[in-house]
Amino acid sequence: MSDDSRPSPAEPPLEASTAAPAQASVQAPVAAAAEPLVNARPKARTAAVIPAAGRGVRLGPGAPKALRALNGTPMLIHALRALAASRAVSLVVVVAPPDGAGEVKSLLDAHALPERTDFLVVPGGESRQESVKLGLDALPADYDIVLVHDAARPLVPVDTVDAVIEAVRDGARAVVPALPLADTVKEVEPATTAGEPEPVVATPARARLRAVQTPQGFDRATLIHAHETVTDNVTDDASMVEQLGETVVVVPGHEEAFKVTRPLDLVLAEAVLARRRLNDGF
Ligand code: CTP
Ligand code: MG
Repeated sequence: MSDDSRPSPAEPPLEASTAAPAQASVQAPVAAAAEPLVNARPKARTAAVIPAAGRGVRLGPGAPKALRALNGTPMLIHALRALAASRAVSLVVVVAPPDGAGEVKSLLDAHALPERTDFLVVPGGESRQESVKLGLDALPADYDIVLVHDAARPLVPVDTVDAVIEAVRDGARAVVPALPLADTVKEVEPATTAGEPEPVVATPARARLRAVQTPQGFDRATLIHAHETVTDNVTDDASMVEQLGETVVVVPGHEEAFKVTRPLDLVLAEAVLARRRLNDGF
């Protein structure tokens, strides 16, 4: 179903010699973050955390967003398959709605998922940040690269996932896929009453702006340090790493990695799936 024909980064070897240093890093993940990361890490193991605990208020009334169907299959299952399509990803931690971990486990059991990938389900929290943190807390020790991917981006192509992993393997501590903007962006003084005119404060040069997607990829110790240190409300994980003063790099994102946020996005997502099905037929 998914396009696996392109050579993905090789599965890292699992022999005992690689397990020892990974275990050692568990005891001092923060100390590890302080060391310069100059060398590429082609054999680092990769896990993904999928925050799926949001309600989906902007999508309107109904089940939690990640559990809503796209062409008959829950959005979360699409997102899981998209990440598990990468040969480099050997574990996916799903962060379920706080009271929905049992339901999510049953969903995973009921759908076909790649056998070479392990799956864990943990209950999430009140904010996305909290949910990601709960997912990170459940990560076994022997993963050095962590992806964080919104369940609400069910259609991300495997090439985008692999590009993010490759950039982390090449030595970046934080990597985000992103696209140039179509619209010009204005900074405003937000109105206190909805619908009131808002004065424009600034117009950043569009050519320098990027719309950021997921999966975002991280050196594990750096991301954990960021989640332990930064308490400000943020809308993505990379901005927490930025707040630590670390460099975050951008790789090309993909139109199909858009976030399902409002009702029209459901129409677009189903159209993308219909086009894929048609293309698969030829
Ligand atoms: N998320 C989460 N835990 C939360 C809030 C959000 O795991 N407490 C997840 C969502 O499930 C989603 C991702 O974070 O996969 C991105 O969030 P967003 O698109 O804002 O989803 P929702 O918060 O569900 O939507 P809304 O803001 O419209 O309610
Ligand atoms: Mg939200």
